[in-house]
Amino acid sequence: MAPMTRNFSPGGVPNEYAPTYYSKRASGGVGLIMTEGVEVSHPAASGYPDCPNLESDAAKKMWEKVVSEVHANGSSIFCQLWHVGGIRKLGMPPLPEVPGFTPSGCVKPGKKVAYEMTLDDIQELVQTYARDAKICEELGFDGVEIHGAHGYLIDQFFWDAINTRSDEYGGSLENRARFATEILQASQQSTSSGFQVGIRVSQWKQQDYEAKITEDKKELDVFFNLLKNAGADFLHCSNRRFWEGEFTEDGLNLAGIAKKATGLPSISVGSVGVDKDFIKLYAGDHQTQTTDLGKLHDKLGQNEFDLIAVGRALLADPEWANKVQNGKEREIIPFDKSFVENYL
Ligand SMILES: Cc1cc2nc3c(=O)[nH]c(=O)nc-3n(C[C@H](O)[C@H](O)[C@H](O)COP(=O)(O)O)c2cc1C
Repeated sequence: MAPMTRNFSPGGVPNEYAPTYYSKRASGGVGLIMTEGVEVSHPAASGYPDCPNLESDAAKKMWEKVVSEVHANGSSIFCQLWHVGGIRKLGMPPLPEVPGFTPSGCVKPGKKVAYEMTLDDIQELVQTYARDAKICEELGFDGVEIHGAHGYLIDQFFWDAINTRSDEYGGSLENRARFATEILQASQQSTSSGFQVGIRVSQWKQQDYEAKITEDKKELDVFFNLLKNAGADFLHCSNRRFWEGEFTEDGLNLAGIAKKATGLPSISVGSVGVDKDFIKLYAGDHQTQTTDLGKLHDKLGQNEFDLIAVGRALLADPEWANKVQNGKEREIIPFDKSFVENYL
């Protein structure tokens, strides 16, 4: 199950229904659940209403319940650790006076609109991720996924159009990846060896769907190996359509490239079983039809990547995986926006 923000956690505490919501997908046949984005324990981490965190005893108790019910239903669960960076605006809760944190003050290329992080801020956040990873292990999670995708904080460091720092966190690809690699290293150090620590990355940014970390094939291999050498146990590569090759139409997709470059377990994602990509959801065109899984079987059959993450299809139908496994694809409930608005 792909990580999906649900905005049902007032005060950062997962809703009473959260254990049922997640365990329904576990009993529905999902092997590994990535939680919705969970804000790291930092005053500027949040950017959207009613997202969960790991800070209060009440939040921790609910996460413990989520984990134990998911495990009881035979699935594993990783917590997605999230900091929105410059997507946060002044005035947003819970601390309206706290600005968005960014590498160089920019959220999009051009104007400085947010706070530029100091070296101390960077180190403080690296330690925050490491402490939160440890908390996740204590709560029973099987691993964490560091959210390094979609134009949020870590991706803001990756993206040279808005990371214009002249210190060791800006400039070369190695420098732009340093914040992420330090987070991975520190999170590995703070947790036990059996606890999984991986990262989700994307070429696309919500600020610019055509933007990329790099367009250079060799550099992309170098990028994935920087993450591997920092201790990533897996690489989750976010595409809007999993069947699209990164450099040529029929070539490997981003997860395929990550796997080939590093040998690490890789996860792909994007429009599995639905006929529109998820950006359309936010552009008003949200009604989908179920699509066949032929291309997915082909790519999995060729071992292009190891796991496929499923997003919207699982919001609409918690039994999606069982239905696919048992040849009941015709019974799958199609996705539309109502499945985001409701907590089923
Ligand atoms: C309602 C919703 C919330 C999402 N929230 C997150 C999130 O918290 N973290 C994240 O990395 N991606 C998030 N995504 C992206 C999904 O993880 C996934 O990559 C995307 O929906 C494509 O998969 P799909 O086509 O199977 O839905 C979200 C997507 C949706 C539809």
